[in-house]
Amino acid sequence: MPAMRLEGLTKHYGDPVHGVTALAGVDLKVDQGEFVAVVGRSGSGKTTMLDCVGLLMQPSAGRVLLDGVDAGTLNERQRAELRSHRIGFIFQEFNLLPTMTAMENILLPLRYSKGDRRAARARAEALLAEVGLADRANHRPTQLSGGEQQRIAIARSLINQPSLVLGDEPMGEVDTETSDLLLGLMRRINLESSVTFLIVTHDLELAARTDRQIRLRDGHLVSDERLAA
Ligand SMILES: Nc1ncnc2c1ncn2[C@@H]1O[C@H](COP(=O)(O)OP(=O)(O)OP(=O)(O)O)[C@@H](O)[C@H]1O
Ligand SMILES: [Mg+2]
Repeated sequence: MPAMRLEGLTKHYGDPVHGVTALAGVDLKVDQGEFVAVVGRSGSGKTTMLDCVGLLMQPSAGRVLLDGVDAGTLNERQRAELRSHRIGFIFQEFNLLPTMTAMENILLPLRYSKGDRRAARARAEALLAEVGLADRANHRPTQLSGGEQQRIAIARSLINQPSLVLGDEPMGEVDTETSDLLLGLMRRINLESSVTFLIVTHDLELAARTDRQIRLRDGHLVSDERLAA
């Protein structure tokens, strides 16, 4: 059974006459442990697709199935549960909370879970070190550069040990060297724990280093290429 399956995924914004069709019937199957790059021009529907897959948005038509479960049959509480336990998000605009420190931001996805706090903190510290920001734990977002905020957002997406990570341009603001480091981190987690990654990127060189590249154009999936390792 695929980890993620989209069937005729369609999203309209606004009214039928003046509105926009952001997704026009996307079909896609992704297996557990695949690392997939999502490419396509600005406005092609990439963020909309991620928002639907991450259960942040209801599609206008079609279905999102996660591990065979049709998300459309779940109530809001069940959707929230799935999001907080199974899915990691890296948003296009980071969405870090300005009043919280880097450490607090990383721990944020665990705020409603009952797990061991000390273990969570140790994991957050390890993630901070992995993104190269061990000495920035107590900085607030305004005291961090754009690329540093992005790295905090990546660490945050991994804190709940998700089985699916959705990244919207997670390496958009960093230099090549840092981008290599971050891709390396995601790849390691991908291989070690068989975590599925769906990563939007404009960087075609980066896209070429994944397992599979899908392309959206005007809300349609126009290519799906498996790449040699
Ligand atoms: N809330 C909204 N209301 C109306 N139209 C929207 C809304 N959000 C997105 N759109 C439109 O839907 C289309 C797809 O938007 P989306 O954000 O998914 O694109 P994208 O591929 O992520 O682009 P980018 O690379 O610029 O982030 C665009 O034409 C956009 O203008
Ligand atoms: Mg976008």
